[in-house]
Amino acid sequence: MTKKLYIKTYGCQMNVYDSERMAEALGAEGYVTTEVAEEADMVLLNTCHIREKAAEKVYSDLGRLKPLKAAKPGLTIGVAGCVAQAEGGEILRRMPLVDLVVGPQSYHRLPAMAKKAEAGEKTVDTDFPEEDKFDHLPDRPKAVARPTAFLTVQEGCDKFCAFCVVPYTRGAEVSRSADRVLSEARGLAERGVREITLLGQNVNGYHGAGHDGDWSLARLVREMARIDGLERIRYTTSHPNDMSDDLIAAHGEERKLMPYLHLPVQSGSDRILKAMARKHRAEDYLRIVEKIRAARPDMMLSGDFIVGFPGETEADFDATLDLIRTVNYGMAYSFKYSARPGTPAAERTPVPAEVADERLQTLQALLTGQQRAAQMAMIGREVSVLFEKPGRLQGQMVGKSDYLHAVHVRTEATPGTIARVRITASAPNSLAGEVA
Ligand code: SAH
Ligand code: SF4
Ligand code: F3S
Repeated sequence: MTKKLYIKTYGCQMNVYDSERMAEALGAEGYVTTEVAEEADMVLLNTCHIREKAAEKVYSDLGRLKPLKAAKPGLTIGVAGCVAQAEGGEILRRMPLVDLVVGPQSYHRLPAMAKKAEAGEKTVDTDFPEEDKFDHLPDRPKAVARPTAFLTVQEGCDKFCAFCVVPYTRGAEVSRSADRVLSEARGLAERGVREITLLGQNVNGYHGAGHDGDWSLARLVREMARIDGLERIRYTTSHPNDMSDDLIAAHGEERKLMPYLHLPVQSGSDRILKAMARKHRAEDYLRIVEKIRAARPDMMLSGDFIVGFPGETEADFDATLDLIRTVNYGMAYSFKYSARPGTPAAERTPVPAEVADERLQTLQALLTGQQRAAQMAMIGREVSVLFEKPGRLQGQMVGKSDYLHAVHVRTEATPGTIARVRITASAPNSLAGEVA
C-alpha cells in the first residue's frame, strides 16, 4: 500500500539534500511524497537549530499539527535534523504528538523507526553511529531529476566558532570517499543533472579517501569537470582558512567551476574575530579575496555576517562595515547574534537588543545596496543561464546565471537547457534577459 509522506525542510542546503535522501529511503518502504500535509500518513520536519527563532519555529509548527493528528490518529509525526540532534527525547516530552526523533547521522535507520511508529512505538535516535549512513541509504533512483542537484561530500565541523551549534548537531568533520562522490555525481549527470553543488559545513576542508590516496576539494572538482553532461560545479560553505591555493587556482582553470563563492567572514573586527574563535584576522580574509580575484577577476562573492556578538563595540561594527566596503559583495546574509545553549559565547554578556537591531539595519542597507549594484552591473552583459523551471508568465523560463542570479527569460527552451542570455533589466531579487 502506498503511504504519503510530507516533508518540511528548514535551514541550510544540507537539509534539502538530506530531505531528498530520507524521502528516497522511505520511498523504498512504500512512501510517496506529497505537497499537502493534510493527506500525509507521515509528516517529517527536517529542522534547523542555528538560531533561536529557527528552533522555536519547529515547536509552533508542531503545535499546528495537533488538529491533524487528532483527526488521523494513525499519522506519524517525525522530527529530523539539527533540533532533533540537539534536543533529542526532550522533544517528545514537550510535544507528545511526536512519534520519532532522528538525528542527521541516523537517517538510514528512519525506515525501521517509521515501522515502529506505525506499530505505536515512539523512538529517539540521535547516535553518532560507527557505520556511515551513506553506506546504508538506498542508491539514488534513476528517474530524471531537476537540472540542478546538491551533493553532500563533507559533513560536520571541527572549527567550534564560539557562537555556533553545528559542531554539536552535525558532529566531527567527516569526508565521504572521493570514489563514492564521483559515482554519485556521474549518476546524477546520467539522470540529466547539469549543475551540482557540493555541500559541506566546511566543504573546502574536504579530504576524502580515494582509490589512490587523499583527495582535496580541488582535485574532486577537477575530476568532476570531466563528467560528460555535467556543465556546472559549485560548492558551499567554505571557511577562509581552508581556501587552498590549489582550489583558488582551479577557479581560474576549470571552465565548469562557476564564478560565485560563498565565503563567510562574520565580522571585520580582529577583536571580535578572536572572540568568535574564527582563527583568522580581517586582513587574512582580504588577502584571500585578493588571491581569488586574481585567479578569477569576475568572481561574485557572498558572505555571512553576525551583528551584536557579545562584546561588539561601535568601533568593531564600523570595522565590519569597512570590510564590506572593501570586498564589495554580490550577495550576503546577515544575522543578529542569537545565544545558543551549550556554546561558549552564550555565557557572555549580550549586546542590548536595540543596539543589535540598529546595527543589523545599517549592515543590511549597505549589503542590499551592493547586491543591487552588482545586479545593475549585469545589465547589457551576456551570461549563461541554466533554465530550471517555467516562470510565472506564459512562455517564460527561470534559471540561474553563472553568478547565481535568478534570470527570467522569454523562451521555448526546456528545463536543463543552457543558453547565452543578454541581461536587460534588474528587479529587487532577480534579473530579466533575452536569449542572445
Ligand atoms: N558552516 C557554515 C555555515 C554555518 S551556519 C560556515 O561556517 O559558514 C550559517 C551562518 O549562520 C553562519 O555563517 C553565521 O553567519 C550564522 N550563524 C551561526 N550561528 C549563529 C548564531 N548563534 N547567531 C546568529 N547567526 C549565526
Ligand atoms: Fe559553525 Fe564555524 Fe563550523 Fe561554520 S566553521 S559550521 S560557523 S563552527
Ligand atoms: Fe541549521 Fe543544522 Fe544546517 S543547524 S544551518 S540545519 S547544519
